[in-house]
Amino acid sequence: MTSARTLDLTVSPEDPDPTVLATAAEVLRRGGLVALPTETVYGLGANALDPAAVATIFQAKGRPADNPLIVHVDSLEMARALVSEWPPLAQQLAEAFWPGPLTMVLPKSSRVPDLVTAGLPAVALRMPAHPVALALIRETGLPLAAPSANRSTRPSPTEAAHVREDMAGRIDVILDGGPSRVGIESTVLSLLTDPPLVLRPGGVDLDQLRRIDPRIGYGADVGKVSPGTRYRHYAPKAPVMRIEGLDALEREARRLLDSGARVGVLSREPTALTHARLDWQTVPGDPDGYAAEFYRALRRLDARNPDRILLLDPPRGGRWEAVRDRVRRASSEGGL
Ligand code: TXA
Ligand code: MG
Repeated sequence: MTSARTLDLTVSPEDPDPTVLATAAEVLRRGGLVALPTETVYGLGANALDPAAVATIFQAKGRPADNPLIVHVDSLEMARALVSEWPPLAQQLAEAFWPGPLTMVLPKSSRVPDLVTAGLPAVALRMPAHPVALALIRETGLPLAAPSANRSTRPSPTEAAHVREDMAGRIDVILDGGPSRVGIESTVLSLLTDPPLVLRPGGVDLDQLRRIDPRIGYGADVGKVSPGTRYRHYAPKAPVMRIEGLDALEREARRLLDSGARVGVLSREPTALTHARLDWQTVPGDPDGYAAEFYRALRRLDARNPDRILLLDPPRGGRWEAVRDRVRRASSEGGL
């Protein structure tokens, strides 16, 4: 049930107020939609076991029905009840990385509605490392299906204000628990194949996963935007173009400014360039700092309505790979 009025509730991330949690849990139990903070990005939660509630997630986001949802749990028992197999490797990975930004794809049990998995026989599970998310799942007593709480194709929300921009009037409650620490989405790892494959790089990197199982690799789509991709993801309204090297970036910015365009730039390095039509956003130069600021910077740039956004291409390898994946998807190369 989606109401025309959205209730804004503020909750302390360290010590969530039980009465606020009880209000949000009640909304979830009766089939409503609650945006909640997680350590990666804000999620749009509904009772994962209630197909009608799950259907409203797709409606509110404008999400294609063939894109499955992650189910969030607060315990290993809850996770195990949602799958038909819980291999020893899942147990090891959960012990190493849960709660945290790792999502595991496993064969689903019949309890999980087909709508959640978009008809797939497997379900994606994650235990978020955020006291508000965990306390809300515990209070509700239910697994929560939760995609990122943005309108489809918009950058993921890393603070409650972003959720409000996209979702005010479309969902029941927004729980404001402060900014998300990680800033980009979880790593999605499929345990359906042997060896397991990373389907989406994220907060847990390949080196960390390989300490548990050295055979883990990237899936075929990681590292490139598949040719079939019809829509941009995580994208601001203006076309995004990535450019290698600060000199080339500044040259292109100057050329566009000379032609009368409004230009936004997302860079790891500052510039001496100044212009009334130039909005230059400098984000941290380390991968975790960059990830934490990335979506916020894209939304800030977008708000100034540039004709074009130029993005300094991030380095390769290690913890940069998750950032590079989001940059590729936000850029026009992802297709329109
Ligand atoms: O960090 C995150 O993962 C955030 C927070 C809210 O938990 N959630 C998130 O959800 O990013 P969403 O819906 O924006 O992205 C979920 C990703 C999609 O790429 C989806 O295709 C994949 O997980 N996924 C979900 N269920 C799957 C399944 N059964 N098999 C394969 N991929 C799946
Ligand atoms: Mg998303």
